[in-house]
Amino acid sequence: MRVYTDCAMTEAPTQVNDETIPAWDESELGGLHQNDDKAAKVQAMFNAIARSYDLNNRVHSMWRDVAWRKLAVKKAIVNDGDRVLDVACGTGDLTQAFATGSRAESVVGVDFTEGMLEIAEHKRSKLMKALRGRVSYQQGDAMDLQFEDASFDVVSIAFGIRNVQEPAKAVGEFFRVLKPGGRLVILEFDTPRNPLVRRFNGFYCGTVMPRTATWIARDRSGAYKYLPRSVSSFMSQDDMVGCIEGAGFGQIGVRGLSLGICACYTGIKAE
Ligand SMILES: C[S@@+](CC[C@H](N)C(=O)[O-])C[C@H]1O[C@@H](n2cnc3c(N)ncnc32)[C@H](O)[C@@H]1O
Repeated sequence: MRVYTDCAMTEAPTQVNDETIPAWDESELGGLHQNDDKAAKVQAMFNAIARSYDLNNRVHSMWRDVAWRKLAVKKAIVNDGDRVLDVACGTGDLTQAFATGSRAESVVGVDFTEGMLEIAEHKRSKLMKALRGRVSYQQGDAMDLQFEDASFDVVSIAFGIRNVQEPAKAVGEFFRVLKPGGRLVILEFDTPRNPLVRRFNGFYCGTVMPRTATWIARDRSGAYKYLPRSVSSFMSQDDMVGCIEGAGFGQIGVRGLSLGICACYTGIKAE
């Protein structure tokens, strides 16, 4: 397990070499969630796009992603001194939102993609000292978290659960590492219910965004073809709720955001 420390990353990381990336080809995108190599492909893909990931998020969500993460922090009802775990933290946007938007004692970001963590650590190094000290990053797998049972008050995952090979296994891990009374918050893209919005969103995500995002990222991994397919073929809201319930969580809530293109799920581990 790689732990990122204060001195680990002060220079902006360089682009990860993508020559060897096993790109998603058209035939694989149909059954991508069942692909045995999904984890390796997801990791390679995020390594390839890490440097332009934040810019692409802002531009293609028209800055809504910032508001979605703020809402996730609010929904987590963080108390003074709480310990927060942000899984699949990527470049650390939600991890940092917890540090700046709550009085959590510590916020740990975990991700399995080194390129994303390097950006996260670089951003952490730019934070004010008081905030910087509360944020840390570790390399790790959402399905096998290297933390003791009942060690966090809040667990979050933003736009990550869809990328995990076995989501139910990861949600089980979230339950295990949460203390009784602990809160789970999941942000994930969704398929809008309104037919007009769904049509517009389908065109934007399926046709416009893959081209512009690929151009911005200079990507050859197929990442932005994967994104819309991974959303449209991911589990429904009801299945997601079932998955959270199945792991043992109660008081489950779902809130649709931005006309239903995003959903925020919450759950509580009973005392
Ligand atoms: C779309 S990004 C989301 C990043 C960040 N949470 C955000 O809000 O922007 C998805 C992240 O999930 C990570 N990921 C996917 N599967 C993972 C797993 N099994 N364990 C840890 N991280 C994982 C990827 O490396 C990637 O950084």
